[in-house]
Amino acid sequence: MKELRIGLLGFGVVGRGVADLLLTQGLLLRQRAGIDLRLVRIATRTPGRDRGLDLGEVEVTGDLQRVVAADDIDVVIELIGGLDPAKSLVLEALRQGKHVVTANKALIATQGAELVPYAASVGRELLFEAAVAGAIPVIKVLREGLVANRIDQIYGILNGTCNYILTEMREKGVSFAEVLRDAQAKGFAEADPSFDVDGIDAAHKLAILAAIGFGSLPRFEQIHVEGIRHVSDVDITWASEMGYRIKLLGIAKQDAGGVELRVQPTLVPVTSMVASVEGVFNAVFIRGDSAGTTMYYGRGAGERPTASAVVADLVDIARNLRVGSGQRVSGFSTLPEYLSTSPVRQMDAWQGAYYLRLAVADRPGVLADVTAVLARQQISIDAIHQKGRSDVAAVPLIMVTHATTERQVRVALAQMETLDAVRETPRFIRIEPGFV
Ligand SMILES: NC(=O)c1ccc[n+]([C@@H]2O[C@H](COP(=O)([O-])OP(=O)(O)OC[C@H]3O[C@@H](n4cnc5c(N)ncnc54)[C@H](OP(=O)(O)O)[C@@H]3O)[C@@H](O)[C@H]2O)c1
Repeated sequence: MKELRIGLLGFGVVGRGVADLLLTQGLLLRQRAGIDLRLVRIATRTPGRDRGLDLGEVEVTGDLQRVVAADDIDVVIELIGGLDPAKSLVLEALRQGKHVVTANKALIATQGAELVPYAASVGRELLFEAAVAGAIPVIKVLREGLVANRIDQIYGILNGTCNYILTEMREKGVSFAEVLRDAQAKGFAEADPSFDVDGIDAAHKLAILAAIGFGSLPRFEQIHVEGIRHVSDVDITWASEMGYRIKLLGIAKQDAGGVELRVQPTLVPVTSMVASVEGVFNAVFIRGDSAGTTMYYGRGAGERPTASAVVADLVDIARNLRVGSGQRVSGFSTLPEYLSTSPVRQMDAWQGAYYLRLAVADRPGVLADVTAVLARQQISIDAIHQKGRSDVAAVPLIMVTHATTERQVRVALAQMETLDAVRETPRFIRIEPGFV
């Protein structure tokens, strides 16, 4: 084989980056892959739109079948996003004998249990490095670099938009809504930001990482997902005063009793490395029984960082084809017949310390009422903070608990909400002191 003939589906942010990289980095890629990586055709919804690239002989078409079903294409890169028509296009491309590379986290997290075995059954590669943490090659790390380890913990900052918003809120002392508006204006956040700020995007990535790390199929539906909409500037300020940062973390843990999968705002010590990951950056921490904890840091999104990961997958395919060794690594690393089905734990049983925020009337007896509720649930308090102000209707009452269960905390907060002096729905954030 002299060349790998490539067809692209989708010519948006990532598609443009991949095309640019293939067209400008050809010599270097050939020297590394051993064969030419030739971009033959791009199919996209609006083929006539100028993307500011000199495409030379590359054909641009509106007909997706000219990529998926064409005889002159060896690899299809799916960069359309979403499930429909992405899923049917990927299945069709595999059925037509193409290898497939995708950056589509939603697709792999929710449909990977069907797509990955299907690709194996037809003897084709389905690679998705760019689906998790953009430029950070963390899938390769889990599948290959750390393959000798039993992994018991994967956690990290998996969504740059949320991390940017939380960083700006702290540095500039502004509200969630203000930063979100600014991020949308600068193009860091989508017009509909819900996938990012509600934690869904991070959950897609966590599902993929946990599947590879723990040797199971992705279990996106079983992840406990909370976003950052309820994180207020009061939380950010108090967290800082108490020596914490608030980060939206994806957390996957595994022990003999089962698996924990959650995406949540989390209080982490300001001295931890995860706390120091700021702005749009991502970081993934993986703990293996031999390697210990390793950390991977970089840009989790953007045209070139994501294209870097897509093209790395292409080079993998080219190298494998060159020496005739396809299917070298199983999609979720562990061979399908050994994939685990260990149960995912319910959050009710989670144990740890909690940060609690109430808005209460500033009058005598309120603290006693609130602490009585905690006492009834046998929750003991580590710290209480309140700055009294008689000129406002409600003041923040901040409490930090000792280790307790989520069930106890939820019951206590529901009871507190019924108290006359409590003016808003009480909120909590879990504290994770043990992260590096
Ligand atoms: N952006 C990032 O930083 C990033 C990072 C990691 C992973 N990803 C993933 O990469 C994928 C692509 O993301 P993106 O940011 O490049 O998206 P994007 O900028 O919205 O681009 C999507 C492209 O797909 C084309 N398209 C959409 N629906 C189509 C349809 N029905 N038929 C034909 N073409 C269609 C669009 O067409 P036209 O432009 O022709 O109208 C556009 O070129 C997604 O799965 C995303 O989750 C993105």
